[in-house]
Amino acid sequence: MSARPSALLNTSLAGLALASPLVLAAGTAGVLAESADILDLSRIGAVVTKSITPEPRTGNAPWRVVPERAAMLNAIGLANPGIERFMREYATLAGGLACKVIASAAGFSIDDYERVVRGFAAEPALAAVELNVSCPNVHGGTEFGADTGALRELVSTVRRVWENRPLIVKLPPVTIGTPAGIVDLARTAVESGADALTLCNTIPAMSIDPATRRPRLASVTGGMSGPAIHPIITRLVHDVYQRFARDAKVPIIGLGGVSRWQDAASFILAGATAVGVGTGMFIDTRSPLRIIRGLERWAHEQRVSRISDLIGKLEAA
Ligand SMILES: Cc1cc2nc3c(=O)[nH]c(=O)nc-3n(C[C@H](O)[C@H](O)[C@H](O)COP(=O)(O)O)c2cc1C
Repeated sequence: MSARPSALLNTSLAGLALASPLVLAAGTAGVLAESADILDLSRIGAVVTKSITPEPRTGNAPWRVVPERAAMLNAIGLANPGIERFMREYATLAGGLACKVIASAAGFSIDDYERVVRGFAAEPALAAVELNVSCPNVHGGTEFGADTGALRELVSTVRRVWENRPLIVKLPPVTIGTPAGIVDLARTAVESGADALTLCNTIPAMSIDPATRRPRLASVTGGMSGPAIHPIITRLVHDVYQRFARDAKVPIIGLGGVSRWQDAASFILAGATAVGVGTGMFIDTRSPLRIIRGLERWAHEQRVSRISDLIGKLEAA
C-alpha cells in the first residue's frame, strides 16, 4: 500500500478538498500545529484547532482529565491563548501545514463568537470555521446548542463575518426527549448559514472515587469521550443523515469514540463525509494513520473508486 493516501481517500467537505476523510478533533491535537511533530499531516484531511475565545483562558483546576472504562472524562474548561495571541503566534503556522486547518471558535455571547471569527477571517490559510456551541465544561458553554432560537441568531451573525469559506457547526449529543432534538438543531444551523455539521461534542458525565467520596474531576462534572460513546454518536449521525442531511446534501463530520478503522467506516456508512479522532490519539498517538490505512483497505475491498461512494451506504438490518 502506498505511503500517501491514494485518490481513493480524497474527499470533499463543503467544497474543501481533503487528502483523506480523517480530521483531528478540536482540543485534542494541541492549539494548531503541534500534531505535526508526531504525525505525517499530508495523510490527514484536516486538523481542528483548540477552541479559541476572545480572551485567554487558563481553564479549570486539576484534575481535569480522568480515565474511565472505555472512556475518558475531561473538564479542561476551554484553556486557550485567546484570539489575539492565537492570530499572532499560531494562525500564521496554518499555511505551512500539509493538511487543511479548521479554526474552532467558542464563546459565551454572540459578540464573543463574532469577535473570534472576525479575527480568524484575517488569515487566509484558515480553511474553515467550526463553531463549538456544545462545550459542557464551562458555565454557559452549551447554551447555543440547546435552543434553536439562540443557535439561529448565532450562526446567522457569524455567517455575515465569515463570508466565503465553509462554516461548520459542532452540536452537542442531544437525544430524543430534550427540548430541541438533534435533527431540529442540525436543520436550524444549516438554515442559518452552516455548510456542514460536526456530530458531536462530549457527553455530560461524572465520575466518583468511592475511597475519598469525592468527584474525580475538580469541576465535579465533565464531558465523556472515547470508545464507549461511539455507538451513541453513530445513532445521532444516522438520525441526522436519514432525516435531514442526506436530502439537504449537508456533509457531516462524525466524531466520538473512533479508535479503529471499523469505527470510522461505520460513521461513513451511517452518513458521515469525514470522521474525527480525539481521544483515540490519547490511546495511541499514531492511531489516525492506522485508521487511514484501514479505511483505504476497506474502500478497496468494497470495490469503490472513492471513499465518498460509501457515505450512507448502510444496508437494511
Ligand atoms: C482533552 C479534550 C479537550 C477538548 N477540547 C475541545 C475544544 O476545545 N473544543 C471542542 O469543540 N471540543 C473539544 N473536545 C471534544 C472533542 O473535540 C470531541 O468532540 C470529543 O472528545 C469526542 O470525540 P472522541 O471520542 O474522539 O474524543 C475536547 C476533548 C478532549 C478529550
